[in-house]
Amino acid sequence: RLLIVDFGSQVTQLIARRLRELNVYCEIRPFNAVTADTLRDFAPKAVILSGGPASVIDADSPRPPAELWDLGVPVLGICYGQQVMMQMLGGRVERGDGTAEFGRAYVERKGDAHPDLLTGWFLEGREQVWMSHGDHVAEIAPGFEVLGTSPGAPFAITGDRARHFYAVQFHPEVHHTPNGRTLYENFVRLAGFTGDWTMAAFKDEAIERIRAQVGDAKVICGLSGGVDSSVAAVLIHEAIGDQLTCVFVDHGLLRLNEAEQVLSMFRDHYNIPLIHADESDLFLGALEGVSDPETKRKTIGRLFIDVFQKHADTIEGAAFLAQGTLYPDVIESVSASGGPSVTIKSHHNVGGLPEKMGLKLVEPLRELFKDEVRALGHELGLPQSFIGRHPFPGPGLAIRCPGEITREKLEILRKADAVFIDQIRRHGLYDEIWQAFVAILPVRTVGVMGDGRTYDFACALRAVTSVDGMTADYYPFSHEFLGETATRIINEVRGINRVTYDITSKPPGTIEWE
Ligand code: XMP
Repeated sequence: RLLIVDFGSQVTQLIARRLRELNVYCEIRPFNAVTADTLRDFAPKAVILSGGPASVIDADSPRPPAELWDLGVPVLGICYGQQVMMQMLGGRVERGDGTAEFGRAYVERKGDAHPDLLTGWFLEGREQVWMSHGDHVAEIAPGFEVLGTSPGAPFAITGDRARHFYAVQFHPEVHHTPNGRTLYENFVRLAGFTGDWTMAAFKDEAIERIRAQVGDAKVICGLSGGVDSSVAAVLIHEAIGDQLTCVFVDHGLLRLNEAEQVLSMFRDHYNIPLIHADESDLFLGALEGVSDPETKRKTIGRLFIDVFQKHADTIEGAAFLAQGTLYPDVIESVSASGGPSVTIKSHHNVGGLPEKMGLKLVEPLRELFKDEVRALGHELGLPQSFIGRHPFPGPGLAIRCPGEITREKLEILRKADAVFIDQIRRHGLYDEIWQAFVAILPVRTVGVMGDGRTYDFACALRAVTSVDGMTADYYPFSHEFLGETATRIINEVRGINRVTYDITSKPPGTIEWE
């Protein structure tokens, strides 16, 4: 296995992701948890030193234990990791007063012999890389040679091929270093990894970690029916069985038959102890007369926490709260707390709840990306129809019903949404689309059906493609598909007499209507 020493870079998890893609098992440990004893017990086959915000020139800046250099295993230093390596092995780092380099840069090959680390590099001349550093290496350590240079970083790639110590100034793990994967591939190959690690192995390891963390304490998990919390619940149940209880808060804003599906899947199929908190009267009551989107979101978020806590309090001796937090949530919450970004929509989450209830967190998916969670769900035997489901927002149908929410509108919306999704499935388009749904509009329009006049609601279809929900484009359905869908909705759903298709991209629109 491979050890990643984390010096606090924003993208350390991406290193882990690149290695998982190469089927190499790795663990990330914060620098202050890596001692000589850790190195001995962990017995890594290779070590990667991540980037980080500190400056090696400062006396108390973090560094790995000196024993690292005597392990006899390959070491790769990235950015701050490079500087630490050079500093500790006898090179020199200079503070980059005003010479910071951020963003795209181009590295050229230096030297004749093609070293192991760079097989497949420089085939077409220079390579694009992503730089992000203030300090820079001024003198390389004895035994090292320069393998690549860029205008801003003369020592962009350095290596000691005898000891297999390599160091790069840029970030090979990010998307903007297109050939970065090859560099990792070369590194793990020369460390002797065969790439035989799989998601099945991740599952076993995650189960061991959960057992070690939780012991014989009880765990509560809030189940939403979405992919993330479902995979987390099934994984934890496999680890600790009935020490886990799930709480499923039904706010009355779910889709057609959704509550039944969740109950039958988790209670009947997986036998997971499950509290079904049917609180629709409470939620819909509180939402009566509310039409402002942020007020809706905040009302639902506040009630959700109250209701969850009320039901969780009935589980005696619970010490942990399980959450299906993914890695992108971790990055987002870091930047949300530290950055000047504006709140577009108040997102629905249970942040703050653990402290309030005195619970510790179990977050077994914290290192994973969405597609990896799906692969893990597959490994755990969750049906494909469930794993591949489109995302569904925490506030549910409330934000697909602009204006005031009524039970009548929700009923109509559920039926129309089910027809639309059925159409998409029938045409084999479901997996091509990131998310699709119907929004019921706060307007009645005039129509004619048979010989009579109708005066019913209009609705909008929404279907988008996206990779991460941050940006999106509308899905280019054929006119036949749209026509057929409109006809079906108007014929099958009483209360709707007009169908429109929303062709706004994000930005400037958002995916949901509120
Ligand atoms: P927007 O509408 O902001 O949505 O373009 C981006 C993605 O996030 C989902 N979404 C939410 N998910 N709680 C969630 O868990 C929320 O409050 C929430 N609001 C929006 C939305 O469905 C889309 O996938």
